[in-house]
Amino acid sequence: MGEERVRIGIVGAGIAGERHAEAFARHPRASVAGIAELDADRGRRLAQRVGAAYFADYRAMLRAGLDAVVICLPHALHRACALDAAGAGVHMLLEKPIATTLDDARAIVGAAERAGVWLMMGYVHRFRPEVEAARDLIARGRLGRPRTVLDRFISGGMQDTPRWVWDRSQAGGGVVMYGGVHAIDRLRWLLGDEIVEVYARTDTCTNPVDVEDAVCAVVTFASGATGVLYEHAPAYGRLGAWTTEVFGTDGALIVTTGATLEYRGRDGAQRWTYGEDRRFERQADEFLAAITGGRPPSVTGDDGLRGLEVALALYRSAASGRPERARS
Ligand SMILES: NC(=O)c1ccc[n+]([C@@H]2O[C@H](COP(=O)([O-])OP(=O)(O)OC[C@H]3O[C@@H](n4cnc5c(N)ncnc54)[C@H](O)[C@@H]3O)[C@@H](O)[C@H]2O)c1
Repeated sequence: MGEERVRIGIVGAGIAGERHAEAFARHPRASVAGIAELDADRGRRLAQRVGAAYFADYRAMLRAGLDAVVICLPHALHRACALDAAGAGVHMLLEKPIATTLDDARAIVGAAERAGVWLMMGYVHRFRPEVEAARDLIARGRLGRPRTVLDRFISGGMQDTPRWVWDRSQAGGGVVMYGGVHAIDRLRWLLGDEIVEVYARTDTCTNPVDVEDAVCAVVTFASGATGVLYEHAPAYGRLGAWTTEVFGTDGALIVTTGATLEYRGRDGAQRWTYGEDRRFERQADEFLAAITGGRPPSVTGDDGLRGLEVALALYRSAASGRPERARS
């Protein structure tokens, strides 16, 4: 691909689409060539802002000669768009969750493999410096063996999110599918371990919806470590920060998202603070490095599949009242 800029198309110009478009538009090795969006006003506005062409139909954009697309659509539409993108031979950065069913997720991973294009999952929180630093501490053994974890993820209710997020047919569920998959991936990635079993309760507490707006789950990792996943999207707004805690045999850490990383272990205590948030730029950088370097991205379709397996096991457990296996 030489020194030419990678031509990126964005499908869906909503909350996520905007952030990706701005990140790629700022990147010296990329240009945003097209924005595909059903809502013409919204699509044209973003296209103008980043100097791209507007398309009402993403298939027309795929025919316009792109190197890669970023898929930022309601979850149930991920499969059709990803298969079209693979058919057009373009690389994909696909927003989470990979899909709403394992069948769709496997079809996406298979289509990308057969087409020989890279599929990267949009688990953007891996690109937060405080989360990356936490993973580094764990990987270097500063915590010994991680034994218990807690992820507390409080987001906004209906007032803060698009309506489709609360429609099972489009989102595949409620807060677990929109936000919870980030928390699931964060725990998997931090520990470098797989969640093999889930015991969960879900509830609909404050939003007038028929999907869950709260979840409390106990998860078991392949290593035997256990964790609690606690998520709420109250209609009256957020309270408190998104925190992740890991306690191990030799030390512990607490990530306060966007703010601090605290460590205490047998070798002392440390605290780091974080301000600037460039996670979408750093994610774009990794995607472009994979494409131009001819190497797989650091976040794969398999990560998407594993995250979805855990989310679906969580729903099965909430329905059955029993622990459920997460691996298919
Ligand atoms: N990583 C993050 O931080 C983050 C944040 C928000 C959302 N997301 C993910 O991004 C995806 C989109 O969520 P969102 O919050 O941006 O939703 P959104 O509703 O804000 O945006 C989706 C857009 O897609 C458009 N659209 C729907 N069907 C289309 C079609 N066939 N062709 C073109 N455009 C179409 C809609 O008009 C809408 O503008 C989801 O997978 C979601 O989970 C990720």
